[in-house]
Amino acid sequence: MSAAKTDFNDRLLSLGLARVAEQAALASASLVGRGDEKAADQAAVNAMREQLNLLDIAGVVVIGEGERDEAPMLFIGEEVGTGSGPGVDIALDPLEGTTLTAKDMPNALTVIAMGPRGSMLHAPDVYMDKLAVGPGLPEGVVNLDMSPRERVEALAKAKGCKPADITVCILERPRHEAMIAEVRETGASIRLITDGDVAGVMHCAESEVTGIDMYMGQGGAPEGVLAAAALKCMGGQIFGRLLFRNDDERGRAAKAGITDLNRVYGRDEMVTADVIFAATGVTGGSLLPRIKREPGWVETTTLLMRSKTGSVRRMSYRTPTWPHDEA
Ligand code: FBP
Repeated sequence: MSAAKTDFNDRLLSLGLARVAEQAALASASLVGRGDEKAADQAAVNAMREQLNLLDIAGVVVIGEGERDEAPMLFIGEEVGTGSGPGVDIALDPLEGTTLTAKDMPNALTVIAMGPRGSMLHAPDVYMDKLAVGPGLPEGVVNLDMSPRERVEALAKAKGCKPADITVCILERPRHEAMIAEVRETGASIRLITDGDVAGVMHCAESEVTGIDMYMGQGGAPEGVLAAAALKCMGGQIFGRLLFRNDDERGRAAKAGITDLNRVYGRDEMVTADVIFAATGVTGGSLLPRIKREPGWVETTTLLMRSKTGSVRRMSYRTPTWPHDEA
């Protein structure tokens, strides 16, 4: 692949990025609610890769499906695009919420972010402790060193409301039981989600629509970087600390060039330059509607955002079903 010849032109590339997210969603449409997570994921991966390779970029996947030896496609380090455009870094999750898709539960998305080379943290596939709030709040109003109670109280104070008026989104996992109990003691409400913390974080940026004020808890580190890219466009704060359970995971960090294992990354440290971000709804939620399938046509809605301008577009796309499936 030839070296990058032009600058990252976020405006020009954004429509192409929306197409990539759309096509991944369309490919998984016939697998929503069919109980087969792997098939749904594979369909999205294939379509995303095919579409990416049509773009005039010299792209490198920095957040992808995993290490090369375990992921045959869209692995970390894979070069994508025609090679004749700007050099870009790509973070992607072709199907964020594979189980949500298989069970037809809310908030499964196809997600992709693109920025100039070196713009995104090369997060290894480990867990990350995350904390996020929406825009319009003082920088550092909450932080990862605060207890869950302190976070709720600080946010309520900044918003001029009571803890009981705050809603926190948390992944429902045994590891979060103590956190959930402590948040409940404050009187705050909790929106428990079974999967999909990229959407969980993004909900904070549109709290007037989603009803969610804060996200907290441990989830995938790659999803943390994708969520940081989304908030860089929508506004809002996210903090993340990588979590390592064993030497293998610490080895992954070393391979990714991470030396300070306790570092707290803010949004602009996870995503250091302006990026573009696209997500298409697979199953519906308060951010994006689900894929609509009717005899003869299918419709998707894609959120397309640019951090440089803070523009947020919701684009609906309707197409005849015949090119995609006859099911
Ligand atoms: P998949 O789409 O790969 O299934 O991931 C879904 C997800 O819920 C993420 O949103 C989240 O960050 C992670 O899994 C949480 O991991 P775990 O299921 O191990 O708690």
